[in-house]
Amino acid sequence: MNLSLEPRIETWFPKSIYIIDQVCINEIGDYENEIKQNKIETKRTKTLNVDSTHLKFRNLHTIKIFSKLVKEIEKNSRMFLNYMGYSENYVNHCGVVDMWYNISNSGDFLFPHTHPGSILAGVYYVKATENNKIIFYDNHNNYEPPENITNLSMTTCEYTCVPGRLLLFRSDFVHATPKQDGIGEKIAISFNINKM
Ligand SMILES: [Fe+2]
Repeated sequence: MNLSLEPRIETWFPKSIYIIDQVCINEIGDYENEIKQNKIETKRTKTLNVDSTHLKFRNLHTIKIFSKLVKEIEKNSRMFLNYMGYSENYVNHCGVVDMWYNISNSGDFLFPHTHPGSILAGVYYVKATENNKIIFYDNHNNYEPPENITNLSMTTCEYTCVPGRLLLFRSDFVHATPKQDGIGEKIAISFNINKM
């Protein structure tokens, strides 16, 4: 056995986020119009402080106008699950099981949360400004943070919300939307992927 005398640091158990841009970019105007014109009731809570259909209507994926988006989400989700090692047979039975939207503006926010009960969760941005961010948290670290955060000590990461951007992640990956700074409407479509 050839043992090195040099110390080494190995990292394990990565958290992954699947990202793809420019999804359904030609249809995005139709999505915004549909969301603005439909009469679906929305509700806010103290922690879900956006106009959300989450508590009122989670069947957005059954509305015909969103069928191309659903197809793209399912195609990319299957690729992501494939990379993780799920079998072709398993991923072919996975699809969007619920879908809703959130409309928000200056001062709105979403508390950190997970999407329990599904295998993947995700978000697609219909409208956003470059100030809009989504933050992901690694909640398993309770140590004193170092003065300089490195790849070995980071416990959060963030993405800019860009129209046409699709993010997929494990449904137990804690995420949140910080309070929105400045005026600018944001429309996000959220969903869960599961075996159907
Ligand atoms: Fe979420």
